[in-house]
Amino acid sequence: MNKAMLNVHKLSKAFGGIQAVSDLDFQVYRDEILGLIGPNGAGKTTVFALLTGFHKPTYGKILFEGRDVTGLRPNKVAAAGLVRTFQLVNLVGKHTVMDNLMTAYHLQRRAGVICSVFRTSFSRQDEDRIFSKAMNLLLDLGLDGYRGELVYTLPHGLQKALGIALALATEPKMLLLDEPTAGMSAAERAHVMEIIRKTRDRGVTIMLVEHDLKVVMGTCDRILVLNFGRKIAEGKPQDVANNQEVISAYLGYEKAKRNDH
Ligand SMILES: Nc1ncnc2c1ncn2[C@@H]1O[C@H](COP(=O)(O)OP(=O)(O)O)[C@@H](O)[C@H]1O
Ligand SMILES: [Mg+2]
Repeated sequence: MNKAMLNVHKLSKAFGGIQAVSDLDFQVYRDEILGLIGPNGAGKTTVFALLTGFHKPTYGKILFEGRDVTGLRPNKVAAAGLVRTFQLVNLVGKHTVMDNLMTAYHLQRRAGVICSVFRTSFSRQDEDRIFSKAMNLLLDLGLDGYRGELVYTLPHGLQKALGIALALATEPKMLLLDEPTAGMSAAERAHVMEIIRKTRDRGVTIMLVEHDLKVVMGTCDRILVLNFGRKIAEGKPQDVANNQEVISAYLGYEKAKRNDH
């Protein structure tokens, strides 16, 4: 396999007495979709927050394209090309899909964090360049048919898909998606997963947290399984699905959930 794009070494995070992430080692390779799964509270969101500078690790190192990004601020990490979706420009409902996307392109990686600035003035040349970039992206993702629609009129699934498009306007090298299909219908979920695959085909490496195991198994090249902040398995979907420790972690969780009701 090619050289790792992201190299994580002994990553650890404690919140008071809670060890949310423990001694975690893993790599992400260029152009792969790596699934990050595990029961509720396993530490998945914390891992994303650590990778993107929203939390400082208690211990450990994060190397992105060979550069030490451990402890850098979120905007610095985003500028390096490592981005998670919610830190991006917000959708503005009363504007069109195209307007939102052009604004995102305009702000580019300068934003890095949520930004409420809307549509400052572009130079004519910038405007043309940005328009064609935005149009290409919409075409690639199969969203061009919605470019003139006001965002608030779109169904939830399409708004989420547009959120991913906005993230792509910052031209990340690696995109971290935390439950991008939460609360969606099966059809919406299938659409968003298709967009995630197309995003990878555009040359963006992806780390994906997703609850639906069927979706994870069908989409990811490799899967990393966390339980109580530790890695319990890593490998191809089929190997992970047959791993005894993974099965017990999930069954244990399912059982506990049933006993709650
Ligand atoms: N900001 C925080 N302060 C204190 N505890 C936290 C914080 N964020 C997460 N935790 C705890 O860390 C553990 C892992 O949480 P999280 O990363 O959200 O898990 P997951 O995303 O896998 O469901 C949980 O026990 C959670 O309660
Ligand atoms: Mg989470």
